[in-house]
Amino acid sequence: MNKSPDAQRMEKIVSLCKRRGFIFQSSEIYGGLNGLWDYGPLGVELKRNVKNYWWRVMVHERDDVVGMDGSILTHPAVLTASGHVEGFSDLLVDCRTCKSRMRADQLVRKNGIKQCPRCGSSDITEPRAFNLMLETHIGSIDPRSGLTYEMPAADRTAGSTPEISSTTSDSQFVDIKRPAGELVALVYLRPETAQSIFVQFKNILEVSRKKLPFGIAQIGKAFRNEINPRNFIFRSREFEQMELEYFCRAEEGMKLLEYWKEERLKFYENIGIARDTLHVLTVPDEERAFYSKGTYDIEYDFPFGRQELEGVAYRTDYDLSQHQKGSSKPLEYFDEETKQKFIPHVVEPSAGVDRTVLALICEAYSEDQAPNEKGKMETRVVLRFHPRVAPIKCAVFPLLKNKEKLVAKAREIVDLLRPQMFVFYDESGAIGRRYRRQDEIGTPFGVTVDFETLGEKDAALRDTVTLRERDSMKQERVAIRDLVNTLTSRIR
Ligand code: GAP
Repeated sequence: MNKSPDAQRMEKIVSLCKRRGFIFQSSEIYGGLNGLWDYGPLGVELKRNVKNYWWRVMVHERDDVVGMDGSILTHPAVLTASGHVEGFSDLLVDCRTCKSRMRADQLVRKNGIKQCPRCGSSDITEPRAFNLMLETHIGSIDPRSGLTYEMPAADRTAGSTPEISSTTSDSQFVDIKRPAGELVALVYLRPETAQSIFVQFKNILEVSRKKLPFGIAQIGKAFRNEINPRNFIFRSREFEQMELEYFCRAEEGMKLLEYWKEERLKFYENIGIARDTLHVLTVPDEERAFYSKGTYDIEYDFPFGRQELEGVAYRTDYDLSQHQKGSSKPLEYFDEETKQKFIPHVVEPSAGVDRTVLALICEAYSEDQAPNEKGKMETRVVLRFHPRVAPIKCAVFPLLKNKEKLVAKAREIVDLLRPQMFVFYDESGAIGRRYRRQDEIGTPFGVTVDFETLGEKDAALRDTVTLRERDSMKQERVAIRDLVNTLTSRIR
């Protein structure tokens, strides 16, 4: 079967990510683990640049937001109060014919009958709730410590004995054996970063002395036992979130929802995602969490379809109220002007780091035609990253590697630029090929040290270099003393 152009594009992107060291499958040499990914040398830079820019605009450039970094292992009481233990689940079904396991909403409908998307069978099990939280255990617990949790039962699906014990889609289960009678405490790997912000609300309010409206921001790992991790890093079992909980008075909630939706759209544009590939979905009443008064999904046109990048939700006072109830600790805000105490409302922009990284790579991937060394046109693969997020900002090349003076000057330039940006030195191969290697990983600028730099051809050009821009391939002559300013003004 012929693959669609979008499917082919996605395949090229996944293959480039592996070939050039952006993203690898986790535990690959042992056969890999489904839904888990490792970021390589370039992927980690790209991801870090996304997180740093988010932190810059959401925390550092504002007076009304402070940051925190909470623990991943979470007390079960937190996630009971938040509603996750009871209700953070997807409906799961199995196909009895091909043994595929999937989310119930992934079944396809043909002539009004639900069918397996893989084999077309309509012999499907009844849907059952599958809690998406990942558990782990701390301990062995000292019996005198007062912690009394024992190993929990293994069956994670609510109220049913699984009809099908092994499936083709995910057969990597191992039994965890604990010595009989060992006391362990059940804890969860957090399914979102948000809950530690709510739980620390009072402490942070006290130490930061902020007045409403104000926000608490966090970037960190979250874990979900997704039934069908898919679409590369789009839906995985371990991922990172960038979340802001922006606390406010009830009457400000709807206005701030609009404000944050606009701010977040600006963020994506500012990292190089074209506005016409971004879409705002107003989540309809029946699909919104019952406590939310308004939710937008910011979506992006991925090659595999239009999908959510970020949710912006007005969550009312639900979370703080739940934790006040659950902990019996007051989580109110005291308004010094009105002398009133109340539980603040919250607006939450919640973005996925990995989905943003994937959107950036999809947006940046392009192929054009460019002449090779012999002047023959060939296909050039370019990642057109915004310089702000590009993993490497500038590559520095001596024209020839066997000319000591060229190499020494290029090394000097590397040392000059390094304190300001991530630079890469490359002396191997023809200069055209070196440019192409950088184009393919999205390096926006290339600096070449040539004989003019040494003043050998024209004294007026001494201590100038060729600065090449990735997308236009245009070259300009820049004085070395102006290089730091020229580049920093373009990458910030
Ligand atoms: N605190 C609200 C919250 O967690 P969510 O819509 O479940 O809301 C927010 O998640 C964002 O986290 C999503 O828009 C997405 O970018 C990212 N995300 C959620 N599940 C993910 C997964 N399995 N893999 C990668 N990213 C995920």
